[in-house]
Amino acid sequence: MCVPRVLVGKRSDIQEGKFTSVTVGGKEILVANIQGSYFATGNICTHEGAELHEGELHDKQLICPWHGAKWDLTTGQLIWFQELLESIGSYRIVIEGDTLFVDI
Ligand code: FES
Repeated sequence: MCVPRVLVGKRSDIQEGKFTSVTVGGKEILVANIQGSYFATGNICTHEGAELHEGELHDKQLICPWHGAKWDLTTGQLIWFQELLESIGSYRIVIEGDTLFVDI
């Protein structure tokens, strides 16, 4: 099965410790640069739907801006919250030169 590959932007547009979001085919995806490595996860918190690109990044942890759930940006899995939440999902990043793509 062929996985659609979508252009995110230039690597140089996402500085270390920063992230951006893109909307592709109805999916909101967050792309982060953590110490020069790039990771992509869903951008919507599975608790009540906050947009995670408005949260804070601490190393590999993304803190939800609404109620503070902590997400692992490398896997899309929940690190901490007062109740279990479904994963926000993660996506494979592909780098070609200075260009970032994500397989959705
Ligand atoms: S919406 Fe993210 S923790 Fe509530």
